[in-house]
Amino acid sequence: MKSVLITGTDTGVGKTIICRYLAAYMREKGVNVITQKWVQTGCDQTDDIKDHMLEPLPFWKQVKDIDTLRAPYRFKYPASPHLAAALEGVQIDIKIIEESHARLCEQFDLVLVEGSGGVLVPLTEKIVLADLAARLKMAVVAVVPNKLGCINHILLTIEALRKREMSIGGVIFNRLNDNGDEAILRENIRIISLIAGVPVMGEMPFLGKDADDMKNAKKVGEAFYKCWKENKND
Ligand SMILES: Nc1ncnc2c1ncn2[C@@H]1O[C@H](COP(=O)(O)OP(=O)(O)OP(=O)(O)O)[C@@H](O)[C@H]1O
Ligand SMILES: [Mg+2]
Repeated sequence: MKSVLITGTDTGVGKTIICRYLAAYMREKGVNVITQKWVQTGCDQTDDIKDHMLEPLPFWKQVKDIDTLRAPYRFKYPASPHLAAALEGVQIDIKIIEESHARLCEQFDLVLVEGSGGVLVPLTEKIVLADLAARLKMAVVAVVPNKLGCINHILLTIEALRKREMSIGGVIFNRLNDNGDEAILRENIRIISLIAGVPVMGEMPFLGKDADDMKNAKKVGEAFYKCWKENKND
């Protein structure tokens, strides 16, 4: 479990926030962790790598071109990677992503890769994100916003991952707002865990003013750390 894809059921579901908390939690545990985003689109408005907020450690200076390794492709248009690249006349070269990922895996104990959108987002016209993650033998953690409709979305995501024989570390629920029907939201967690048969790594609460308070991440962080420790040599 050297490298974990942090994916989600959609864009805007909390992958960046979860990466930020997981990275901070793992660092607190003494794990030499780094985050990566293979393709950042809408880069004038959004910089997920920056939002992961890892303070650079002194030794990062020895890792040549670390910023480029962490985000090998950046495009302005906020669209699917294949389209955002095409609009700038660029063909995404999968080898460049593979090489940057391999370089980070050599230098760090753990690489958290935040996906672009969901698992079947096209990187090029030939390859979707999950195909590449499967080829790189990455484990996967899927973020799902806990809301009406999420059962279908996460079960489809898990089917797509299983079809590619990927190892699913778990599912993290995320409260994007604080006005859901508690009975539905509780049942979502139960039924998804039952049908999908995957570990639930907990639920990130709705973050109000204390968004940077690490206590928000305690349960999710602990579950992720335990999973990583048990599977670290896979
Ligand atoms: N638990 C939460 N409580 C409050 N706000 C949240 C929570 N999770 C996410 N958000 C907010 O929802 C928005 C989308 O979250 P985020 O950027 O993490 O999604 P994403 O899946 O990384 O999106 P993208 O596909 O664009 O990378 C952000 O404004 C974020 O601050
Ligand atoms: Mg993001």
